[in-house]
Amino acid sequence: MAETFRVGLLGHGTVGSAFAELLAERADAIVPVTGLRPEISGVLTRSRGSFEEVLSGSDLIVELMGGLEPARDYVLRAMRAGRHVVSANKQLLAAHGEELSACAREHGVQLRFEGAVAGVVPVIRVLQESLAAAHVERIHGIVNGTTNYILTEMAARGLTYDQALEQAKELGYAEADPTDDVTGRDAAAKMAILARLAFSTPVHLDQVVYEGIEHLTADDIEYAKELGLGLKLIGTAERVDGGISVRVHPAFLYAGHPLASVHGPFNAVTVESETITEVTLSGPGAGGPQTASAVLGDVISAMIPPASGVGGNDISEALPVVNDVESAFYLHMEVADRPGVLAQVAELLGMQGASIRSVVQKGLGENARLVLVLHPLLESRFYAAVRLIGQLDFIRSAPRAIRVIDEEFT
Ligand SMILES: NC(=O)c1ccc[n+]([C@@H]2O[C@H](COP(=O)([O-])OP(=O)(O)OC[C@H]3O[C@@H](n4cnc5c(N)ncnc54)[C@H](OP(=O)(O)O)[C@@H]3O)[C@@H](O)[C@H]2O)c1
Repeated sequence: MAETFRVGLLGHGTVGSAFAELLAERADAIVPVTGLRPEISGVLTRSRGSFEEVLSGSDLIVELMGGLEPARDYVLRAMRAGRHVVSANKQLLAAHGEELSACAREHGVQLRFEGAVAGVVPVIRVLQESLAAAHVERIHGIVNGTTNYILTEMAARGLTYDQALEQAKELGYAEADPTDDVTGRDAAAKMAILARLAFSTPVHLDQVVYEGIEHLTADDIEYAKELGLGLKLIGTAERVDGGISVRVHPAFLYAGHPLASVHGPFNAVTVESETITEVTLSGPGAGGPQTASAVLGDVISAMIPPASGVGGNDISEALPVVNDVESAFYLHMEVADRPGVLAQVAELLGMQGASIRSVVQKGLGENARLVLVLHPLLESRFYAAVRLIGQLDFIRSAPRAIRVIDEEFT
């Protein structure tokens, strides 16, 4: 009879209850892998259990409560008491990752958090272990399933943002209050966690610049299709000029980019490095059973001695965060159709060093559209040109700009 491995569970909601169920279902299969039989030894919710009792009766703590406090306090106390901790709490890891990892290292325990980023997609483990020897240059991620679902529906069926959001709520892909998802804040927390692991540098959520999808129109998506582009909410973490840039914003992708074919509520992450060229991982990004599967994977790893990945990647010096980076752009202008429009726009762009990759011109009279895709240039220079273009007398409304990721791996 295998010895029992006691798992204390903090939180018994969507993920917590799915985790408890999965653990009971898989316990027999885990015995031959670990030599131990895991079982839930205690549960804490708002209405039942006490943290002290759950802690004292456990060999490992799984935190699935969410929020910053008391989750942070409980996780720190568990590690100080010598317990490995598994969590899926992205806000906690993004806000207090350094403190928690330092505590894990100090006390020789593991802190695992695969479920915190991209659900069941094993990107944390890949960065910490499989790609530990690769010098990661860049990560692009679709790390929020709600927004990817909304953008997929806008593109495939011509829905407005509001219609697609309503549909996402009806199908359970968006919460009643979707603010964190649609503003990009949820994706920003996940990108902070990934950047920290990829570049071994402290990255706090406050350092991640983010923009959401609420202002996007079906019109932009329609025009971009003609240029072979698809729209996604993309998180980017990359090395630039001796520092790093971590950001989340809507971006157009060409069909040859691995993230271009990731549709609906799926998540995917692309890791780029000179040694490995490009590796893409994709799969379901959220959901109780899916996230529970990632959490149980972490628990199994922590059960197997000797401990691997204690405390996560070591953090080296703080790299400066760079905010003005190079990007290609899509620029959509409503213009009066008269001779010389394109030439004047091109001149203002040219003065900032921008060159045009492709052009679509539509319509006649006062309602013509001019849509350009530009080769990469510094964002500050691009927006300087856009400010001047907005003042031209033939421009009918504020020009709309969306970034373009112009890499393809075909
Ligand atoms: N849902 C997903 O698809 C998903 C995907 C990836 C990651 N996550 C992460 O997983 C974590 C849990 O998410 P969830 O969707 O399962 O949340 P949830 O359904 O709201 O469940 C939260 C659980 O934690 C308990 N809890 C909350 N605050 C507490 C406190 N102060 N003291 C004691 N218990 C407390 C709640 O107790 P009561 O039952 O008494 O209310 C509930 O059982 C979050 O960090 C979330 O970001 C979720």
